[in-house]
This record gives sequence, C-alpha cells and structure tokens, in this order.
Amino acid sequence: MADTGETPAAKRARHAAIGERVLAQCRGYGKLILFGEHFVVYKVPALVGAVAAYTDCDCEFSEAPGLVVVDERPAVPQYKVKKAAEGQEAIQLTLKHLNVDTTKHGVKLTFGGDLCCVSGIGASAAQVVSLARALGRELPLKLSEDEVNAAGYEGEKGYHGTPSGIDNTAATFGGVLRFCRTDAAPLFEKKQLKAPIRIVYASTGITASTTEVVSDVRAKRDADPAWFAGLLKTYEALLARGEAALDAGDLKTLGACLDENHALCQQLTVSCPELDNLVDAARNAGAIGAKMSGTGRGGLMIALTPTEEVQDAVKAALSKLAPQVWTTFLA
Ligand code: MEV
Repeated sequence: MADTGETPAAKRARHAAIGERVLAQCRGYGKLILFGEHFVVYKVPALVGAVAAYTDCDCEFSEAPGLVVVDERPAVPQYKVKKAAEGQEAIQLTLKHLNVDTTKHGVKLTFGGDLCCVSGIGASAAQVVSLARALGRELPLKLSEDEVNAAGYEGEKGYHGTPSGIDNTAATFGGVLRFCRTDAAPLFEKKQLKAPIRIVYASTGITASTTEVVSDVRAKRDADPAWFAGLLKTYEALLARGEAALDAGDLKTLGACLDENHALCQQLTVSCPELDNLVDAARNAGAIGAKMSGTGRGGLMIALTPTEEVQDAVKAALSKLAPQVWTTFLA
C-alpha cells in the first residue's frame, strides 16, 4: 500500500462525513507503467499496473450556480501548483462530457483518497475517473465502466492534449492491463498474474509536463522517422519478451526486460540524470530490474523487488536519495 500524506484521524473524519461506502464507489486508481510509456501514444501495446492507492471524489449539487473544488489529495510539493490550470481544464472537460452545466447548478467537488499526487502515478487520470464515477452516482447516470473510462479520457485531455488513454483505463479498471490505443476504442485485457509483483517506486521530486514531453518526443520522431521506427521495432520485440515473462511469472527475465525498457527511454531522451541515479541505486540495492515510469524528465521510477527483504533494502537505499519512496504490489 502506498504511503499517504493524510493522517489517519483526518481520513477517518473525512470518511465519516461523506460515508465510506459512497467514496468506495467513486474511486480512480493510480498506475505504474511497466512497459511502453511514450511508445503507447503511437498505437503499440503497453503493460500497466494499477496501484492500490486511489483518489476519491465527493460531489454535492446545489441551486446557486458555480463550481467549488476542494482538493484534499496528498501531493508532493509543487505538484498542485504546477498542475492547477490543467486540473481545472480536466474537471471542466469531464463535467462537459457528462452534460453538467455549472452555470445552471451549483457543484461542489471534494477530492481526497490515499493516492499521493506525483508525476508518473496517473494522478490526473485517477482524479477525472473518480469525478466521472461521483457524477454518475449522484445524478444518477448509470454509467457503464466503459462510459466512466470514456469520461476519464475526455478529462485527461485537459492535462495532456493527446493522451493514449492508458492512464484513465488503469484508473477505471485496476489490475494489470495490456493496453493498446487504436483509432477507435482502446483494446485492453486484464493480465492474470501468477503472483502479485512487489514494487518500490520513488519520485525524483520533479513535476514534469506530460504535454511538453509527449510533444517533444513527437517533434523528434517527425525530425527523424527512421530513428524512431528503429526504437519502436526494438520496443515491440522487448514487449513480447517482457509480457511472456510476466505471464510465466519469470521475474528474473521480467526484471531484465524492465532494464532494457529503461535504456530505450534513455534513447528516447525521456529519462534524466535524476531518474538514472535512482534506477542505478535500486539495482545496486538488489532490485532485479528498474526503470523510469510514466512521462519521465522527472516524475517516477519503479524497481522490481522479488522478496520482502529486497523490497526493504531497495526502499532504504532509495530513501537516502529520493524525496518520496513508496512500496506496493501489482496484482
Ligand atoms: C503517461 O503516463 C504515459 C505517456 O505515454 C503518455 C500517454 O500515454 O498518454 C507518456
């Protein structure tokens, strides 16, 4: 389970006021990308795991028009400041998609939960998915899971103009997913793991802009299509090996494939010295694979730790270097 900035007493008081049962129905999960960040934008498959930590949303309607947003989500320093404008846009897009007009009704949204907002964890997707679920519940709209996901996708456009949809799909459905963007609805399936996978993840403390990093990768691809096509081909072969290892519960090969994916991210120029240092430190402390995860140029890295002892050792090593470190299971 991820660490949380919310004290147990504050959490109890908030849940008592809103109701545990209601909040449980209005959750969006965080995610960690195992394979394929950035490549997934170009319609090749990726593997993603939802974490147990979630954002929840409480939604209250009133007569007086206007929108009030209370954001009680735990977050790393600067995250909420840097993402403020994008967050407002994401909320507006989700409201619009579900035909909620705040010039006609008053809407108060309270976001909470134990997911710590940090670049790379899919906090934006968790937020808009929780919002879609809360609106669906309160209005009520009887949204299917695919409709919740579609609303989350619209909201994600506020944070990042051309999302692949991987984050909102993980936030909606949870579990470990193979995801592929298409020209129509995304294709995805839940992976059946042999056993839960032990992970340590750590933040560089740098909040990255997904819009900027994705645009930069696109510009590099447009400038040198042959270079990008070569990386994409290498990635697709790597994914096949990584997925087979995941399916077989072969953690050693899975870890080696995660390492290779990190090298591809370096070639794609989306890693950075801070991420590389954390990845090296995790490997030196016993992780059997480590890579950046998500947008990159800051944000998060993940480490595959086969046992509790290794997980503790990697957490301890990363805690000396990274401002925030968490442990979780992907299942
Ligand atoms: C961000 O979590 C993952 C990226 O591949 C962007 C996307 O898929 O929309 C960088």
